[in-house]
Amino acid sequence: MQTALRTSLPETELASRANFAPHARIVREERQEERLAQASGLPLSIRGLRKSFGSNEVLRGIDLHIPAGQFVAIVGKSGCGKSTLLRLIAGLDKIDAGSISFGQDVQPEDIRVMFQEPRLLPWARVLANVEVGLGRDRASKDAHARAEQALTEVGLADKRDQWPSVLSGGQKQRVALGRALVSRPRVLAFDEPLGALDALTRISMQRLLERVWRDQGFTAILVTHDVSEAVALADRVLVIEEGRIAHDVVVNAARPRERGSAELAGLEGSILSHLLSADDRT
Ligand SMILES: Nc1ncnc2c1ncn2[C@@H]1O[C@H](COP(=O)(O)OP(=O)(O)O)[C@@H](O)[C@H]1O
Ligand SMILES: [Mg+2]
Repeated sequence: MQTALRTSLPETELASRANFAPHARIVREERQEERLAQASGLPLSIRGLRKSFGSNEVLRGIDLHIPAGQFVAIVGKSGCGKSTLLRLIAGLDKIDAGSISFGQDVQPEDIRVMFQEPRLLPWARVLANVEVGLGRDRASKDAHARAEQALTEVGLADKRDQWPSVLSGGQKQRVALGRALVSRPRVLAFDEPLGALDALTRISMQRLLERVWRDQGFTAILVTHDVSEAVALADRVLVIEEGRIAHDVVVNAARPRERGSAELAGLEGSILSHLLSADDRT
């Protein structure tokens, strides 16, 4: 069962409940808002996570802690359970054993997933497609304004009245990203979101992902088969092998990162050699 463990009140909440003099309280509350705006990600703790489909034991004990706001990439050979892990994190599937917790109760809007296919509604215009991401808030007065803001963030404000069918593949993925961002998620999971794009569009989308992540501070979990993409974007790369996390590689390179630098190429090479040696054993 998916658990959302309740911990003690966060510091910000405690501060807002404390009995300050009124002026001190206003200053304090403004600072809290600033901090919340800067660090909206949730931490993620996974313990002893298992998932099987019939006799196929896909995840055999995943233990992982992701600090709030970290950008984590997950790589591993096809069929190793990357999508399964994301689906469990997003609450789209049931876990067999173990737990996943975010340190507090979460709402559906707090966790969003972006897939390889944009999954846009063909009968709805771009802006309406983005509004879908608001979930229960879709009927609220500011729904249009929020969707417009999200479209601006992904650089598509001028396409708001278009039908999805006239957009390029990259533009459709931008709309899907806008739809994922519009609810201001605190955890954003990406399942090979750029896998179907051409090389140049892919690089510009990678830059966009990095920018929105830095602006909004959500916790990012990116499944990708592209190790160079993983090291370009992530703070940390996890390699899944035989149902467990076999390698946990920190990427310390400063941002913005220089693609193709010796540092990133070296990391990419060592992660690829882990993946290939796992392949040799099967
Ligand atoms: N709904 C499902 N029913 C049965 N088997 C599944 C289901 N989803 C995934 N699997 C199996 O679980 C394994 C891991 O799949 P997946 O997580 O999609 O791998 P990856 O994303 O790493 O390529 C595969 O063997 C796949 O066939
Ligand atoms: Mg997959």
